[in-house]
Amino acid sequence: MAEKLSLRRLRQNPHIIDLTREVRVAVDQLIQPCFVVEGITSKEAIPGLTGTFRETPDSLLHQIEKDLEAGIKKFLLFGVPGSKNAKHAEPSFTAKQIAAVKKRFGNDVFLAVDVCLCSTTPHGQCGILTAEGDHVDNAATVTQLAEAALAFASAGADCVAPSDMMDGRIRAIREALDGAGLERTILMSYAAKFHSRFYGPFRIAADSAPKGGTPLKDRATYQIDPACPRDALASSLRDAEEGADILMVKPGLPYLDVLADLSRRINKPWAVYEVSGEFAGIELMAAQGLVNGPAAHLESWTAFVRAGASIIITYGARYAQEWIKQ
Ligand code: PBG
Repeated sequence: MAEKLSLRRLRQNPHIIDLTREVRVAVDQLIQPCFVVEGITSKEAIPGLTGTFRETPDSLLHQIEKDLEAGIKKFLLFGVPGSKNAKHAEPSFTAKQIAAVKKRFGNDVFLAVDVCLCSTTPHGQCGILTAEGDHVDNAATVTQLAEAALAFASAGADCVAPSDMMDGRIRAIREALDGAGLERTILMSYAAKFHSRFYGPFRIAADSAPKGGTPLKDRATYQIDPACPRDALASSLRDAEEGADILMVKPGLPYLDVLADLSRRINKPWAVYEVSGEFAGIELMAAQGLVNGPAAHLESWTAFVRAGASIIITYGARYAQEWIKQ
């Protein structure tokens, strides 16, 4: 009896599988996060984030040079200043590193810069606290964010990416940039950013975990609750309306439904952030021999593209060329 095949005909060998794939991941669509830290004397490893380091100003330039050789040209920079300040954003250290990167590499690199206060405040909250210390003051924080974004854009950042989740920051930043003649600076909003448990390794890298000493224990009063996709829609519509050029969902895999839904509803380029805990989860399994790490990362990235992302921010970007070939 002849074998009856229907759907399996197009799964029978790698050639036909290649030809019938609906989505592909390309290195061009990946952004590599980088950390630059004031006051350290040599680069430091970050638990769980294989291949990403807390860089010194010098080692950052060296790393970017190596990445360019490997075909990675797009970066998201996090600056971690050496001193903390409860009232001011302290953008000068990060601005200086932006200027150094752009002076050295010019338009060979696309440099996006995270805008937030969590690495610069002593309590690790993403903004300025009220006098009672039990609430992040929205207006005071937005003023500081706009100042920091302006400092980063003036230093040469191609894109500023506010990750704080205050109300009205997109409009305030756009106005500050346009007022200074920086109309070309791109605004990427962490629009659908959830109050997630998957940010652990990042907070070590950025020295930004919420610390004790204030009544505020976590970021639940400004980040989106995991059970509120409607809030993610409202935040994204608001940021699009206020002038964001690119919108983002963060984290990635646990919020794939949100990415799929929002990218269909809102006609903007969508980015997704495969956050530190997601990335580290795969790395830790791979280290135990439980999964093939590169293949698992690639599978996650494929899911992001399938769900509607055109931009993927991942700690694995600098390995992508190698992994995609395997
Ligand atoms: C906040 C910020 C966070 C990340 C980037 N910017 C999260 C947070 O601490 O709330 C997380 C990125 C990651 O986990 O990889 N400014």
